[in-house]
Amino acid sequence: MLRGKKVLLGVTGSIAAYKTTFLTRLLIKAGAEVKVVLSPAARDFVTPLTLATLSKNPVQWEYFDREDESGEWHNHVDLGLWADCMIIAPATSNTLSKMASGACDNFLLGVYMSAKCPVYFAPAMDLDMYKHPATLENIEKLQSFGNRFIPAGTGELASGLEGEGRMAEPEDIVDFIGKDLLKGMPLEGKKVLINAGPTHEAIDPVRFIGNHSSGKMGVALAERAYSMGAEVSLVLGPGSVMPVESSIAVYHVVSAREMNDKCRELFQEADIAILSAAVADYRPKDAATQKIKKSGEDIHIQLIENPDILKGLGELKGDKQVLVGFALETQNAIENAIAKLHKKNCDLIVLNTPSKKGSGFGHDTNEVTLIDRKENQYPLELKSKSEIAQEILQHICNHLL
Ligand code: C5P
Repeated sequence: MLRGKKVLLGVTGSIAAYKTTFLTRLLIKAGAEVKVVLSPAARDFVTPLTLATLSKNPVQWEYFDREDESGEWHNHVDLGLWADCMIIAPATSNTLSKMASGACDNFLLGVYMSAKCPVYFAPAMDLDMYKHPATLENIEKLQSFGNRFIPAGTGELASGLEGEGRMAEPEDIVDFIGKDLLKGMPLEGKKVLINAGPTHEAIDPVRFIGNHSSGKMGVALAERAYSMGAEVSLVLGPGSVMPVESSIAVYHVVSAREMNDKCRELFQEADIAILSAAVADYRPKDAATQKIKKSGEDIHIQLIENPDILKGLGELKGDKQVLVGFALETQNAIENAIAKLHKKNCDLIVLNTPSKKGSGFGHDTNEVTLIDRKENQYPLELKSKSEIAQEILQHICNHLL
């Protein structure tokens, strides 16, 4: 969820400030662009150089640089408006009280007051300070402003005491924000199953029957579904591209039968299944256990039909499940796709015409027509597979859920 997001990290003066080095690393690793601002006291605990190096951006803590005679102004308003989300971590009792009262006597508070994005705060303080009525009231007040509270954990504190007040661990902060950003998304709470890529059907231990599918379309669907709030399972054939989003559950399979088994298992829990894989329709009846040697004679491989995964899921489909198939047709495309939609009990079929330039296997773009059960047709122009994925998912949200 943090991929491509502009994250402003506000660090205040607590010993927990050392953990912001890890937090910055995790945010960068999650794909966020990070800028750090410090309260004056934070500089006693962590150096601007460390955070500037990790965030790959200059770190600011003053409205202007006292050493720099040019008088360059650090614009707190621009910085506040730049952010997609702001995290105050660690948030000291002092900063919490200023945020709650609107006091604005340092650069970090100026940025906070200017930010229009969601603001998260992760307190860090000793247990008695954390339980003090003033702190509790400030936390409540900040939440009433719409700021998101990331509760402190329990454990050993810098004072030597044991109890509540430790700043949440950096992993938990990133996890909290990721989950919070998913709230209100169109696919929040939905489980989406996607299959993608080719299958390989063994001839012998080193040879197989396969196809040119790259899995790009299915991976784009998985990434988009995730960014729309879904919990995504991706059943992926061999050699396919991988999603960059690590929260997508990826199941690697090789043959159509393996793909079928995994899809049937995951379909039981799925709200939406989108089958984009280029499943081999046939497999060798008996795969040789040893490499087949040249014998000077022609050989014949008997092929038998593989299970049709989509058709099987169509038979299992419950009232509330949405099933989407793909069709790749070279002739009578629309009629064949409509027939396939009904035969396989799909709610929507995505017709893919490989003869169109820039469309189909291996390309980064695709040109498709969506067809629903009422046989309405929605042609989409040539677009990136990621944009096509977005349109397919948006169509599902608008018409099928
Ligand atoms: O019948 P056809 O192979 O053209 O149908 C394509 C659709 O059916 C795709 O969604 C594909 O993933 C799915 N399919 C399948 N199992 C097969 C063959 C195709 O799930 N054995």
